[in-house]
Amino acid sequence: MIQIAQRQAAWASAADSFAVKCAGCHVGGGNVQQPGATLFTEDLQRNGRATPEGLYEIIYKGKGKMPGFGKDCAPRGQCTFGPRFSDEEVQDMASYVLDRAAAGWKSEP
Ligand code: HEC
Repeated sequence: MIQIAQRQAAWASAADSFAVKCAGCHVGGGNVQQPGATLFTEDLQRNGRATPEGLYEIIYKGKGKMPGFGKDCAPRGQCTFGPRFSDEEVQDMASYVLDRAAAGWKSEP
């Protein structure tokens, strides 16, 4: 029970962070800057990001125009200028993205 409650709290917190930090570029699971790099399963799979590890890496370190959000992200120019995520928050965000992708980014459950 406690584990389920913790998981729900982590999911809700990732959902809030996504709306604030990610939706500007990834609204509805898309990618306003780079078509072909959306957060839908087909793109994630083609780009080798359809796993917790693949997602963790890009959310932590960023890539190209995608800023990194990990607490020790480097170099600075590749990273968000806003608040950073702890390792756990990066993992929670990766799970959140996988869950939403599995549901086709339909309305939140
Ligand atoms: C300033 C715009 C911007 C913001 C903010 C942003 N991203 Fe991205 N994201 C991108 C771009 C551009 C790419 C493509 C990078 C590339 O492959 O060169 C990308 C790629 C990704 C990918 C890989 C998609 C694929 O199919 O290869 C994931 C996952 C991702 N972003 C998650 C996130 C998450 C989670 C957040 C918030 C914590 C976030 N992004 C914030 C621009 C952004």
